[in-house]
Amino acid sequence: MATDDAMPARPMPRFPDGFLWGVSTSAHQIEGAAGLRGPSVWDAFTAEPGRVKDGSTADVACDHYHRYREDVALLADLGVDAYRFSVSWPRVDSPGGLDFYDRLVDALCAAGVRPVPTLFHWDLPAGLDWLERDTAARFAEYVSVVAGRLGDRVGKWITLNEPAEHTLLGHALGVHAPGRKLLFDALPAAHHQLLAHGLAVRALRAAGAADVGIANSHGPTWPASNDPADREAAEFYDLLLNRMFADPVLTGRYPEGLGDLMPGSPGEVAADLEIIGEPLDWYGVNYYAPTRVGAPQGAEIEFGGVTLPAELPFSVREIEGRPLTDFGWPVVPEGLTELLTGFRDRYGDRLPPVVITENGCSYEGLDDRDRIAYLDGHVRALHRAMEAGVDVRGYFVWSLLDNFEWAEGYARRFGLVHVDFTTLERTPKASYGWFRDLVRHGR
Ligand code: BGC
Repeated sequence: MATDDAMPARPMPRFPDGFLWGVSTSAHQIEGAAGLRGPSVWDAFTAEPGRVKDGSTADVACDHYHRYREDVALLADLGVDAYRFSVSWPRVDSPGGLDFYDRLVDALCAAGVRPVPTLFHWDLPAGLDWLERDTAARFAEYVSVVAGRLGDRVGKWITLNEPAEHTLLGHALGVHAPGRKLLFDALPAAHHQLLAHGLAVRALRAAGAADVGIANSHGPTWPASNDPADREAAEFYDLLLNRMFADPVLTGRYPEGLGDLMPGSPGEVAADLEIIGEPLDWYGVNYYAPTRVGAPQGAEIEFGGVTLPAELPFSVREIEGRPLTDFGWPVVPEGLTELLTGFRDRYGDRLPPVVITENGCSYEGLDDRDRIAYLDGHVRALHRAMEAGVDVRGYFVWSLLDNFEWAEGYARRFGLVHVDFTTLERTPKASYGWFRDLVRHGR
């Protein structure tokens, strides 16, 4: 494993004391032990031929359920302050399921790593449906159960992971579970997840939690040109993917016009927004890359492994002249500075302290210098946003381990630690050593 020689030459700027360095994972992507939990929408989706590119399932994944001690040892050795994982709702619904998280949280605390659970990271129990309003109330009940059990050791909570992606990929485009292709009829799934978020914040507060956030995916939207049609399309894309999820959470309002598209009467939507806008202690941002958007081109577009239908009112374009990750995503660190300063400008005092809850890239190989370059660039870009006055309190790398990358199966490797999916052996990559040095020096 490379360590010191993997450290880029330029000195890293200093981060404030107490800045939280961490890594992230999610239950469905790493746990395995599928027989010890109820089925989720992802199990049904994965079982349909052609849904997952390499035909794989997450039944075993990294077998973290059985190997969590080894993984906690990797976290301890990495020296991170915090570990963001997700709690699997279908596992909690199964006999003994919560015991696993009890053991994991105990092991983390014993290793001096702060547990930061996400309560929903896309693995909805089979039979539930975000198009149904009742799912939000069911989520809040489940959250109360988890908080009641783990709240004595967990301080920092995340309600949802990326409701935007879950709506877009899972309900609008049908490339993720539950595989629905509803386009704009998917909006109720967004509203109900947002409502679930607000109800979860209340449930967590009722259980005594004082450090609650959400992990929303965001990225700057760049118009393909100055042409008014491109600018308008880009603005619409920004509305759908960024503002539809940030505005209600941070301001208690949908962007102009969007509220009318949500399920329920205007009075009901307004009442829901009271709940959705429940103040947060911090706001989590998952950042990967900006998106370049132009007017529709009247044809399907292949983009980042997803086919975008011709009838969308925008088209996604390549960002040229940038290195690409193995996933084909452009590497644009300054997009993170732009995103965060833009958020500060748009939301002002309504923006609580920010935590980067995911940032990372897919590359093959153990000597993953491309990943080091990506992370190095993004950590510096984050620091520039902080120098510009954005209050950022933490940074989590996606991900600790190579894992089940949803519809891509095991083909995309985001880990600081390599996983051999035949033997399940873990091998730290060069980037693991680099991040360990950063965390040590960052303090
Ligand atoms: C998701 C992760 C995923 C990562 C890389 C994020 O959108 O939260 O689950 O693995 O991106 O695609």
